[in-house]
Amino acid sequence: MSTHESAATAAPTQQRVAQHRRYLMCRPEHFTVSYTINPWMEPANPTDTAVALRQWQDLYDTYLALGHEVELIDPIQGLPDMVYTANGGFVIDGVVYGAKFRFRERGPEGPAFMDWFAERGWDVREPVEVNEGEGDFLLVGDTILAGTGFRSTGDSHREVGEVFGREVVSLTLVDPRFYHLDTAIAVLDPVQGPEGVDHANIAYLPSAFDEASQAILAERYPDAIRVSDDDGAVFGLNSASDGYNVIISPRAAGFEKQLRERGYNPIMVDLSELLLGGGGIKCCTLELRAGR
Ligand code: ARG
Repeated sequence: MSTHESAATAAPTQQRVAQHRRYLMCRPEHFTVSYTINPWMEPANPTDTAVALRQWQDLYDTYLALGHEVELIDPIQGLPDMVYTANGGFVIDGVVYGAKFRFRERGPEGPAFMDWFAERGWDVREPVEVNEGEGDFLLVGDTILAGTGFRSTGDSHREVGEVFGREVVSLTLVDPRFYHLDTAIAVLDPVQGPEGVDHANIAYLPSAFDEASQAILAERYPDAIRVSDDDGAVFGLNSASDGYNVIISPRAAGFEKQLRERGYNPIMVDLSELLLGGGGIKCCTLELRAGR
């Protein structure tokens, strides 16, 4: 938003400005863990759908209290992972790059999300390549950071670049616990600095990446928050920021402190039940960036 830009140049970097956000979420009515497609999922461990619903409601209410807008997609029986809407696509300027899931269990979610968007008049681009939406694509300034290694393919990085005509930076994930990019990087402020210089506007877990990717991140974001392995391991980075308020797991105590030191306002929301499926705050949140 333009008001943000003037504030950012006039004020010290510590001055943060909350920006309006529009999100897509899905109530976890059918949430359970009935298969294993990431190391967090243990079908033998019981899940409590009522707890999941309560925790999810907390996140939803928090967004509304902050003045954000939240749209809802109806949950579909038999698709227990649909609550993780971040994987449903990647949306910039009203254009939706649809998802094509790596695993059969989540396959039907791709078309379900694309239908939701198409019915509401969004410009949907059907993917050829396997990709899991905003789970692996993050917009930072004008750049798309793209994850690969576990879910989205390298070919999808080319495809997402073609769809949006933006620079794509490929990053390789190496730790199976952090199988989506949004489990290892949090975008704190998506607005780019003067002359295309990236702000200190991401937080990340270095050990989740291979060496080449660590070098890229260190070079592009010298002032990024690097979180500890402990905070990473509780999905601390799987968070949602509006540029000032950052919704994080209450268990990421070190990250909370780092955010405060940088002038952000961390808000704790516990999604422990949804972590049984290997997802957290960001996973349950897809950003809807409308067209101009
Ligand atoms: N059970 C889901 C899966 O493994 C969790 C998805 C988490 N989503 C995310 N954006 N990281 O696909």
